[in-house]
Amino acid sequence: MALEVRVDTRRRLGAIDGKLFGHFIEHFHRQIYGGVFEPGSPLSDSLGLRNDVAEAMQGLGAPVVRWPGGCFVSAYHWKDGVGPAREPSFDKAWRVEEPNTFGTDEFIAWCRKIGTEPYVCTNAGTGTPEEMSDWVEYCNLRSEGRWAKLRQSHGHAEPYKVKYWSIGNENYLGGEMGSKTPQEWCRFVKESAKMMKRVDPTIELFAASTPDLEWNRLLLQEAGEVLDWISIHGYWDPLWINNNLAPYETCMAYTTRIETPIEQIRAILTATGHLGKIRVAFDEWNLRGWHHPYVDSAANAADCIRPRDENDRNSSYTMADAVFSACFLNACVRHSDLIGMANFAPSVNARGLIYAHPEGIVKRSTYFVFQALAEALKGTSVGVSVHGDAGFSVGDSIVPCLDAAAALETDGSWAVSLVNRHPEQAQVVDLRLDAGATGKATWCRVNGPSKDSYNDIGRSEVGLERGAFEIPSGDFLSFSLPPHSVTVVRGSL
Ligand code: AHR
Repeated sequence: MALEVRVDTRRRLGAIDGKLFGHFIEHFHRQIYGGVFEPGSPLSDSLGLRNDVAEAMQGLGAPVVRWPGGCFVSAYHWKDGVGPAREPSFDKAWRVEEPNTFGTDEFIAWCRKIGTEPYVCTNAGTGTPEEMSDWVEYCNLRSEGRWAKLRQSHGHAEPYKVKYWSIGNENYLGGEMGSKTPQEWCRFVKESAKMMKRVDPTIELFAASTPDLEWNRLLLQEAGEVLDWISIHGYWDPLWINNNLAPYETCMAYTTRIETPIEQIRAILTATGHLGKIRVAFDEWNLRGWHHPYVDSAANAADCIRPRDENDRNSSYTMADAVFSACFLNACVRHSDLIGMANFAPSVNARGLIYAHPEGIVKRSTYFVFQALAEALKGTSVGVSVHGDAGFSVGDSIVPCLDAAAALETDGSWAVSLVNRHPEQAQVVDLRLDAGATGKATWCRVNGPSKDSYNDIGRSEVGLERGAFEIPSGDFLSFSLPPHSVTVVRGSL
């Protein structure tokens, strides 16, 4: 029995912002040092930036990259990371020495190299509104004042024009350096925003948030008029302490919880009158939480650093990660009136899309999901519904087999992103478009031989396949979706 997927091009859900396919890198383990940045490597350029990593990021057409954290940023002082003489500092978030050899100038150079927009997350933990606004001066003023002149003295005559700036990272959490109460947070954000916008009124300002009514009620009451975005984060497989990776089926159950925080934050923005005025950036997301146990308890720092190598195990990242990531991106497309940016956490090493090692890189399964969806899901998100999907059991819950999102461009080209979550069974789909479809359709698919397929050094099980089919005279396309697969079908009205 075929499942029916109906695309309703008249139901316009919102303009799809390309920043939904954004990225994040943090000074954590080997994301920066040994990932993006490896001076002395034969694979690096004269600045020490890994060419192969940069080329892989270019292959994704990364629209924006958030940096430097994450927890790291909440005790990071940006002035330590600029200039000819970099003093190492101690990273209180992750209990390691930060060499500061990769700082603002190197980040901007990397963004230029891969052709992406920089998004700077500032230190609202131990930092001050003045320190944050000084950072904006350093990056965005031409030569006015000491910090712009300092940038010029470092050999960067032209301003960097960094458009996206976040105030803080998860300062609502007790474990964050410089964590704050809602009452402290709203005032701090207001003062920081005032100073940062005085330096450059053209920047877009984000503030760390979470789907909590009290946090947002006060934040938006005090600073709602000066904020363009609020940021939320999501990790679904809680691996911080125990690296017991959830199996494929459990990850499929997790996909049914992706929209919970989105609906919560939508309700809060609606209740506070900010829906349509402030957008949401899901500026950290990943199926897998990062593994970093004992950071508060290990007597010896090495005991909390060693387990972090577990994040780099490539066999961890299977079709579960690819299918989950496609469901997440589909959800953002369906909520594109609200969500304008999403940043995969992280892009390189740890739980990243790309694994960098001394001899090269590995593209993990989710890398191909970004390639397939980012190139196709453009224009306007339109209505899509699935009919006849009995789903499959995971424990005592029923998980739908299919997840779908659809997009329409002004030239009449359309794209439908279809995920078959089922671990074993293919699904035959009748795809109907209300406006009809003619001519040829193309498809692009991410898959591997099994639900547990993964890529590693010398092992390529997951990749992209492409094909085409003629659209029959009728008004629907019929085709089969393999199990545990992500498929994007494209055509024109
Ligand atoms: O586990 C990594 C951390 O997850 C990031 O540093 C932080 O922003 C989030 O809590």
